[in-house]
Amino acid sequence: VDPALDLFEEIERLKREKNAVLLAHYYQEPDIQDTADFIGDSLGLAREAAQTDADVIVFAGVHFMAETAKILNPSKTVLLPDLHAGCSLADSCPPDAFAAFRAEHPDHLVVSYINCSAAIKAQTDIICTSSNAEHIVRQIPEDQPILFAPDRNLGRWLMKETGRDMLLWNGACIVHEIFSEQKLVRLKIRYPNAPVLAHPECEEPVLRLADHVGSTSSIRRFAAESDADTLIVATESGILHQMQKDNPGKTFVAAPPDNGCACNDCPHMKLNTLEKLYLCLKHGHPELEMEESLRIKALRPIERMLEMSA
Ligand code: 13P
Ligand code: SF4
Repeated sequence: VDPALDLFEEIERLKREKNAVLLAHYYQEPDIQDTADFIGDSLGLAREAAQTDADVIVFAGVHFMAETAKILNPSKTVLLPDLHAGCSLADSCPPDAFAAFRAEHPDHLVVSYINCSAAIKAQTDIICTSSNAEHIVRQIPEDQPILFAPDRNLGRWLMKETGRDMLLWNGACIVHEIFSEQKLVRLKIRYPNAPVLAHPECEEPVLRLADHVGSTSSIRRFAAESDADTLIVATESGILHQMQKDNPGKTFVAAPPDNGCACNDCPHMKLNTLEKLYLCLKHGHPELEMEESLRIKALRPIERMLEMSA
């Protein structure tokens, strides 16, 4: 890419020329968030993708999010700046192993977190996101056994919140499972009045220290509504960009991971760059494609989620 190009201007021009909408997750790098038409959590992005009248959806997020957009709105061209932007949590649930696990528990209703592949969605009864998981689980009759996949941390948190027993698939997110409990305790001592905001993909010892547990959009909302001037944030560091923009007077302290790094980036989300975004808009490639038979099977549990979270 010509270094003299103003990528922000070029992306805007290409969006108009191609009637494209740019959807971005909170974990994208700040430059991408600043060029997006809509920024959101998984549920917000899915809703936006379903209702857009643009011809092209450029999805600055990870593969399962772009798949969800295609499942919900198949007549659109769905582009992803880097097709290799996957998700460790989705990868922790391979379709064949999951089919065998399900077959061992045929009486269980399958509730899957949206962070899974279309092949897992096709084996699922109801999808949920971190925004609506508790609301959805509470609507399932008490005597109905539930198999929850793929995130064991979100699953355990839901069990604690709802008092419901669930059979859990043993999956986790490489970003959220490495927050350090010890370093978080030290931060709490240093900032005694700072509430801790955490994503439910974090492990239990970290969630126990949190004052608010929720999706990225609920973490953003909590920060805007809080009276505190300093807040500790235990989720991927991309979200700090919008939180800082919303609240210029507040200080956000990123909870540190256990790997020696100062902040916690998702290596999959961060595969997308402004340059790749520009190139994918310009060339209409890479495009996310999906076989229609798989799409139809994966659509049903997402529609159930949307009905149950209306
Ligand atoms: P949210 O739906 O809360 O944005 O979470 C998506 C995700 O990938 C968290 O790791
Ligand atoms: Fe997947 Fe974790 Fe990255 Fe979210 S942060 S996209 S769950 S690997």
